[in-house]
Amino acid sequence: MILVLLGPPGSGKGTQAKRLINKHKWPQLSTGDMLRAAISNGTKLGLEAKSYMDKGNLVPDSVVVGLIAERIKESDCKDGFILDGFPRTISQAESMDNMLQVQSRRVDKAILFEVPDNELVRRLSGRRTCPKCGSMFHVESAPPQKANICDNCGTELIQRDDDNPTTIEKRLEVYHRQTAPVANYYGKQSKLKVLDATLEPNKVTAALEESLK
Ligand code: AP5
Ligand code: MG
Repeated sequence: MILVLLGPPGSGKGTQAKRLINKHKWPQLSTGDMLRAAISNGTKLGLEAKSYMDKGNLVPDSVVVGLIAERIKESDCKDGFILDGFPRTISQAESMDNMLQVQSRRVDKAILFEVPDNELVRRLSGRRTCPKCGSMFHVESAPPQKANICDNCGTELIQRDDDNPTTIEKRLEVYHRQTAPVANYYGKQSKLKVLDATLEPNKVTAALEESLK
């Protein structure tokens, strides 16, 4: 299964991708996570990406397409994978199709997570992430058992640099302008399923599993 998770910042793509990995063993390919890893490793690519991410803009297509092109050649991707946060432009979606065609593969399904902007702002403003294991929390709706400490591995939680009010507003604007049209791209290929992602996480997981049948 090659699955695309589409949706605005904070719609729960990362949360749900992690649940799918646990059940299906498909790897999660998150371009956001790859870029943040490049930033923490201090690579040239990371430095370039940071200047876009801090402003809430998209990193150039060529950079993210290059990352994905390398990643899908790895052996753990041979039985399928989950794309989280990629493609984010029509051009990235076309590049993905071309890359897969070379391997005689194709995207099977695209799932659009729908959540209104005011709820996205609430979710992103309160999100806390574990820098070690990637677990996700929310200060109000999914707090860790011990304040600011990861339930899973005991590491101190962080707030992402781009989860501040100005950058959140810009990310939402960029989403509506540049990424929302990607849903239509998959709609025209009859691969799109739209989910109400305002429901509580377990209900979203159930709807997601249903749409994969
Ligand atoms: P990226 O890391 O992909 O961030 P994003 O798309 O902005 O999405 P988020 O990770 O913020 O949200 P999410 O949907 O994963 O939600 P989550 O599960 O965490 O990208 C960051 C940046 O990198 C971009 O701005 C861009 O600069 C660059 N970039 C990345 N990919 C790129 C690409 N392809 N092209 C160009 N540039 C690229 O959940 C959010 C919160 O909500 C959490 O606190 C969670 O606990 C809570 N929550 C989750 N589900 C629910 C629910 N059902 N109910 C209540 N709360 C919930
Ligand atoms: Mg995410």
